[in-house]
Amino acid sequence: MKRSDINRIIREGEAFMRSHGYVLPPFSRMSPVEMTERRQEIANITGAGLGWDITDFGLGDFEKTGLFLFTTRNGRIEDLKQGRGMLYAEKAMISRKDQLTPMHKHVFKTEDIINRGGGTLVLELFGDTDGICDRDKGTTVACDGILRTIAPGEKLSLVPGESVTLVPGDWHGFWAEGGDVFVAEVSTVNDDNTDNYFENPAVSRFSGIEEDEAPVHLLVSDYGPWLR
Ligand SMILES: [Fe+2]
Repeated sequence: MKRSDINRIIREGEAFMRSHGYVLPPFSRMSPVEMTERRQEIANITGAGLGWDITDFGLGDFEKTGLFLFTTRNGRIEDLKQGRGMLYAEKAMISRKDQLTPMHKHVFKTEDIINRGGGTLVLELFGDTDGICDRDKGTTVACDGILRTIAPGEKLSLVPGESVTLVPGDWHGFWAEGGDVFVAEVSTVNDDNTDNYFENPAVSRFSGIEEDEAPVHLLVSDYGPWLR
């Protein structure tokens, strides 16, 4: 992705969230220079992978296949192993109208995907057979506490206020219909470097970046190259 497009998407996304009455945490406003100067002080923020995350899933067409994410909190893998402590994570996301987040699953993370406002969020769900997305197999998911059996290929539509709980092995892809959707994710500890398995091997979690202008904010995937 071009850095100029990422900068524009960040500005548009922040305005969209504010229009829904949601304000991102203070570290969202730090410039790359400020992050560099306060590198030691913000080690917990960068270490947990909190912050901006704009991706085209490596396919080069953000409007068609992409997602806007901001990780607001994230726990510790060590705590998860011990079964107590900060076991949770939270993200604010924007799924644009007709913009696909491609079919994937998680092995460790359980996540609630919540429609906080805007259009309708549509999920396509499949079961797992021997680690592979099984397009002949459905699944059963909890939607705001009510169990729903999903046939293979059946679409699950979430209107504002509705959510679904996805457990490890639930294959899921999603997009917005009727308008952009402000999406929240509440989950167990999140490791985006290791815990995303895509059905299409050409898909990657993060984008390559073409530096055609200076970044307004660093992405989570920039922390390594820019701050180390
Ligand atoms: Fe997911």
